[in-house]
Amino acid sequence: MSASTPPSGRAAKAADYVARTRPVVPPIYQSATFYLDDIAYKDIQEGGGLTEHWYSRFANPTVDAAAAEIAELEGAEAAMMTSSGMAAIATTLLTLLQGDRRRVVAARQVYGDTRDLLVRDLPALGIAVTMVDAVDLDAWAAAIAEAPTAVVYAEALSNPQLDLTDLAAIAELAHAAGAKLVVDSTFATPYTVNPLAVGADVVVHSATKFLSGHSDVIAGVVVSDRETTTEIQRRMITFGGCLDPHAAYLVWRGLQTFDVRLARASETALALAKRLEQHPEVTSVRYPGLPGYAWRETAEKLMRPGRGGAMVAFTVRGGNPRALAVMRRLTIASEATSLGGVETLVSAPFNSSHFSLSEEELAANRIEPGMLRFSCGVEDAETLITDVERALDGTVEP
Ligand SMILES: Cc1ncc(COP(=O)(O)O)c(C=O)c1O
Repeated sequence: MSASTPPSGRAAKAADYVARTRPVVPPIYQSATFYLDDIAYKDIQEGGGLTEHWYSRFANPTVDAAAAEIAELEGAEAAMMTSSGMAAIATTLLTLLQGDRRRVVAARQVYGDTRDLLVRDLPALGIAVTMVDAVDLDAWAAAIAEAPTAVVYAEALSNPQLDLTDLAAIAELAHAAGAKLVVDSTFATPYTVNPLAVGADVVVHSATKFLSGHSDVIAGVVVSDRETTTEIQRRMITFGGCLDPHAAYLVWRGLQTFDVRLARASETALALAKRLEQHPEVTSVRYPGLPGYAWRETAEKLMRPGRGGAMVAFTVRGGNPRALAVMRRLTIASEATSLGGVETLVSAPFNSSHFSLSEEELAANRIEPGMLRFSCGVEDAETLITDVERALDGTVEP
């Protein structure tokens, strides 16, 4: 068929349908494959195989639409979607650790499955992994200097204890050693910080969370310069963790309200954190927007002024049994793992994201007994806060 030959048969119907419409939102291109013609063959042969639409594991227009929005939010040249946050993390690390420096220095305070990847799966592939306290710059410097390192890995704002990594400082350390800094910015979100702007080389997100924002999709994204993104995309294609177009559409739709959702949820989180600080049954509150936040100087350096994000962690008097009792008295926030949706979600790290850690490991990671993690949604702030106070008051031993 020549380049100008129109498609025939069933393909003609599909092409005609698309051509006649001008949708306001990106259509869900729920098509595994795309019509080939001489132009497409030529593009593929000339190296366009990763960007042209010919097979949806490589590229798909709806998936591209979501990626483009996230690249813009992160102020990046390029982004690529993956089937989950873990696919984004694993694909990125397995790409960047393929050279002769098969070593990663990572923060100890990371999401539970990321930790399993680091302590179990990467070493099984012969990759050396050293873990350090995310907020101890001397420890980062010593570990990076210890041996040739390809990747330095941290969460901008850690899960669940909300430690803030000094990304600018560890970017300098990483670059001086010829390593790339990879940052999981799921908790911080582009609403509060753009890691690439302060020196990170690659940003990964669980787009399941704040980016999509409605707890209805599992997705991930890798954001970087075009060359690095393309390298990682090549591995995504062979490892197979591509995003489904319908899931990509849900991410795209959630992104349309990203700023308003985050503005509202951050305001609520700040109000909740302030009120919890005053509550006699709460022994500590962690929130980047509080004047007493432990990493305040770093927050002022990295985060946008007045934006602490939507996550709050606090510890209730009486340890884990009390925390469970409080959680179960809540009527507005839902007890569920995950975060970043329009509904407030609450979980206790000890029996969910960090259940596999020993007591010593929990302590080393500053996860206190009785800690609860709140992901603030867009409900009325006062109703939510009153509900939390009622749950706290209702569990006081007589
Ligand atoms: C900080 C962080 N990174 C990565 C992930 C993994 O994301 P996903 O569940 O989309 O694979 C999560 C999931 O909770 C997370 O909290």
